[in-house]
Amino acid sequence: MVALPIVVLCSRRGSNLQALIDVNSAGALPISIRAVLSDRPGCEALERARDAGIATDAMRPRDFPSRREFDEALFARASDFDPALVVLAGYMRVIDDAVVRAWHGRMINIHPSLLPRHPGLHTHAGALAAGDNQHGASVHYVTPELDGGPVIAQVAMPILTSDRADDLARRLLPLEHRLLVASVALLAAGAIELDGDHVLYRGSALAAPLKMDEHGVLRAG
Ligand code: GRF
Repeated sequence: MVALPIVVLCSRRGSNLQALIDVNSAGALPISIRAVLSDRPGCEALERARDAGIATDAMRPRDFPSRREFDEALFARASDFDPALVVLAGYMRVIDDAVVRAWHGRMINIHPSLLPRHPGLHTHAGALAAGDNQHGASVHYVTPELDGGPVIAQVAMPILTSDRADDLARRLLPLEHRLLVASVALLAAGAIELDGDHVLYRGSALAAPLKMDEHGVLRAG
């Protein structure tokens, strides 16, 4: 299988990036991480990329006159690496609508909630405050609506009565890693694509997001 060329955008720790790097290095994920780009020059994700021998670049939003000009510059840099897919993995900025539209069907995000529940920030506290009995993570295509694009796959876990927000974050993170890796694997295999606002799985529109089972396998309905 030909390796899927990707560019990863990160803002902070980069543990989701690390999951992609590790599985790829082990020969179990046919991708080529061409570059890791960031809006925060000192972030840990860039260090992880450099340690793995991956090209990096960072730009500061404050060095640009507007959000659009920053995003155009960042995505022009991404284009230099000719990715088939851009992966937002802990990328904490809202991206300009026009730039998002230019990458329609070629950009995914990992979000720590069971979308459409709890878009935006503070998802773990939000799930607790809402009295939800389960929480989880979603991988979705990026559209101009924040965390609102078609969902490819989700992983769910129960919320325990003793859970606080940091418990949920800690328990969810390893599941996020598996979800992102499994989703990118399907994209690399050509099993997932976007048709308008419908996710196609092996050529048929998904009625509901794929669900990750306890073995880390993504399954339809
Ligand atoms: C993850 O929870 C991700 O879902 C969210 O931000 C966090 C990033 O973690 N968008 P990391 O930078 O990948 O470690």
